[in-house]
Amino acid sequence: MSYEALPARALDRRELRDLVDELAADPSRWEGQVDFPEEGGRHYASLYRDAYVDVWLLCWRPEDDTGWHDHDISSGAVRVVTGTLLECNPRIGGEHLETVVSAGESFSFGPDHIHRLTGAVDGSVSIHAYSPPLWRLGQYSISDSGVMRRVSVSYADELRPMDDLDQAAEVGEVAVA
Ligand SMILES: [Fe+2]
Repeated sequence: MSYEALPARALDRRELRDLVDELAADPSRWEGQVDFPEEGGRHYASLYRDAYVDVWLLCWRPEDDTGWHDHDISSGAVRVVTGTLLECNPRIGGEHLETVVSAGESFSFGPDHIHRLTGAVDGSVSIHAYSPPLWRLGQYSISDSGVMRRVSVSYADELRPMDDLDQAAEVGEVAVA
């Protein structure tokens, strides 16, 4: 699979999952981007982006947490290549759904999907593909009383739990639209 061979249109969930699975099978295309900086913080690298799809490599430590988010109009697929991620989906009035995604496993989702990803094992690595390419995302908070609210953020803003986002916005670290 080469990026040039991808169709000149938005990819569907099956195609996105095929893409991340095929990339996972060829570490030479991404292993040079794997990094766990000593200063901490989730490491991510853009592997590819065109008008129809973007592909990212993410490196996770247990403290790395995207917070609740959606992908606006994009569908996506995630393949874990090393370690384990935990995917959570919010459940109103009940326990949140938790899914362990181990190395070698992948999943896809549509624009309707709301989730939160954390690194369940230190040193986890995953490949993510989105179509159309990520531009805006919805970042959510759930209050102690269960009220959920959404803030539109740029894909360039690192996703993190809303409490951190609020604090960062107050000191001007991120643009929150
Ligand atoms: Fe996501």
